[in-house]
Amino acid sequence: MRIDGGRFLLTGGASLIGSHLAEQLLAAGAGEVVLFDNYSLGSPEVAASLARDRRVRALRGDILRPDQLHDALDGVDGVFALAAFLTLPLSRDPGLGLDVNVRGMHTVLEACRYRGVKKLVFSSSVAVFGDPDEAGVDERSPLRWHGVQPALALYAASKVIGEGLCRLYGERHGIGWIALRYATVYGERQHHRGVNALHIIESYERIRAGLPPVLPDDGSEAHDYIHVADVARANVMAMASEVSGESFVIATGVDTSLNAIADLLLRLTHSDLRPEYRQDAGKVSTTTRPQLGFSAAKAKRLLGWEAQIGLEDGIARLIAWADAARA
Ligand SMILES: NC(=O)c1ccc[n+]([C@@H]2O[C@H](COP(=O)([O-])OP(=O)(O)OC[C@H]3O[C@@H](n4cnc5c(N)ncnc54)[C@H](O)[C@@H]3O)[C@@H](O)[C@H]2O)c1
Repeated sequence: MRIDGGRFLLTGGASLIGSHLAEQLLAAGAGEVVLFDNYSLGSPEVAASLARDRRVRALRGDILRPDQLHDALDGVDGVFALAAFLTLPLSRDPGLGLDVNVRGMHTVLEACRYRGVKKLVFSSSVAVFGDPDEAGVDERSPLRWHGVQPALALYAASKVIGEGLCRLYGERHGIGWIALRYATVYGERQHHRGVNALHIIESYERIRAGLPPVLPDDGSEAHDYIHVADVARANVMAMASEVSGESFVIATGVDTSLNAIADLLLRLTHSDLRPEYRQDAGKVSTTTRPQLGFSAAKAKRLLGWEAQIGLEDGIARLIAWADAARA
């Protein structure tokens, strides 16, 4: 699908990823970008600042409301389905979170069918693998949910259902779709809702306050941290591509321990603090493994996408944004 001149709607348009995606769509010449969000988690200020571009329409709406979706989708070519409750908000309000992630996703697809939307790009997650115990996780790897915390199990299941709904609507109604399974997303406009990106933003805020970063166990827990601009670019490429009916891992392929994150933050802030190691028994976590081994080879092969922003550069950008936001 052509991005240049195209009309796109982002459910959850005020989200971390949605705000970067909107910017990239505009830069690629999109004719209209509708930010559809009920602001239950995201902020209207983000949508309002994007709406300074006259091609952007910030629309308050709820994906659980078919009437609002039907109105908003008039003339829209492609939909980016981002609205969802991440693991942390889902663990706080599982009833509403599952409603949004599951019933909301069904409502979005049904509205796309009704309105003749050509293609949908679904924000899925590597959570669909649960807590994988094998090296080299790719799109064929199973969901391993034995021993996984309930919050992650519910979030993972909601994304599996989301992808299943995409497949169903693709098969039955011919809607083009791609599911992108992001690893841990971080970057400018970072929020406090992502279990794993929280390690970056909380550690940074503690260092700024003159306090040491606090890490669980021995700090060897690792995640694959992917910058939000790389994730937004994957969305644009997925929409533009002729490929349909496929899921892709969107990751860097690099595992970074919490110790390495803390070291990097301390170095970039010229701090001589040392991390503290402390257990928080009630804390939600997705994995404690030192290695994950996500492979994004399929995204490179079929979409031509690969991560471009290294961790040091990405965290430096996040710090610059956080400092500017505080000033
Ligand atoms: N951030 C990550 O690390 C990460 C990793 C993997 C997958 N994802 C997925 O990517 C997507 C975006 O993530 P994010 O971190 O940018 O999300 P976010 O938490 O910043 O934003 C979610 C948005 O959805 C909106 N929303 C919630 N319920 C809604 C409803 N009923 N109707 C309309 N809007 C509603 C919220 O107000 C918010 O703006 C989500 O689907 C998430 O599951 C994110």
